[in-house]
Amino acid sequence: MDNPELARIPGVNPHVPDAARIYDYTLGGTHHFEVDRQAAEFMFSLVPSTRKWLRMLRGCLRTAAQRLSSDGFHHWVDFASGLPTSDHVHSVLPQAKVLYSDINPLTIATGKHLLGDNPRTRYMECDIRSAGDFLRRPDVQTFLDGERRVAFGANGITVFLSSEENRKFFRDLYDWAAPGSKLFATFETKAPGLSTPKWEQFVGMFQKMGESFQLYSLREYLDLCGPWTPGPGGVMTVREFLGLPVGHITEEDREGVGIEFYAVILEKR
Ligand SMILES: C[S@@+](CC[C@H](N)C(=O)[O-])C[C@H]1O[C@@H](n2cnc3c(N)ncnc32)[C@H](O)[C@@H]1O
Repeated sequence: MDNPELARIPGVNPHVPDAARIYDYTLGGTHHFEVDRQAAEFMFSLVPSTRKWLRMLRGCLRTAAQRLSSDGFHHWVDFASGLPTSDHVHSVLPQAKVLYSDINPLTIATGKHLLGDNPRTRYMECDIRSAGDFLRRPDVQTFLDGERRVAFGANGITVFLSSEENRKFFRDLYDWAAPGSKLFATFETKAPGLSTPKWEQFVGMFQKMGESFQLYSLREYLDLCGPWTPGPGGVMTVREFLGLPVGHITEEDREGVGIEFYAVILEKR
């Protein structure tokens, strides 16, 4: 059902599909319109396991927030956040200060609306390709109480960046952060050389929307995020990260192209 509250937010157009609302529908949320549901269902018709993988990714974000909270982090800076619905970081870390950011103005407007006047959360505009400039902004520093030992979130975004953009993003965060900072990231991979017509069409959908959609190998991702290094848990498949049984991911979920997602908590030592 359409969300009437959402339609009242200035600038929100219920007739044009929006990436964050499509994502929200995929996660089982309530912030979407018919056009978003149709676009999502078309994606599921091409790659049916999309829903399962993306729900696992959101689960990993919550698990990472819990782990980093028990490591004593009280400041979380989240990039490419999408909609901060009730299962996002601030609900896991109600005592922490959580700074959300995204490039999409509609997502930001909706995000601000969802967060309301909660003083421990903020939603700001940030193009991840200029993350260093963003982190140096005075209002960002003020919100973070001048703290530079922070936890970062970069969930489900690396695939939308070129290799140079990924490298710069991780480097910008590393250069700004104090030693001891940690960064939660997820990486989408597939078996090199494998493809199917439906997979090609799926990738083509993103490219038509003007988004880069590029998968790297795990080895390439780990190179791109240097000089950050994996913490004690190392890199895990998202299934392992969530502690799910081996059979949770079936061959069908890999869609004939060997899809695999990884999660890692990186450290600046
Ligand atoms: C797959 S969603 C990420 C979801 C979210 N991180 C989560 O864990 O649920 C991708 C988001 O990346 C945002 N995005 C795409 N390119 C971006 C960029 N260059 N800078 C910042 N955000 C970007 C999109 O607007 C979208 O909200």
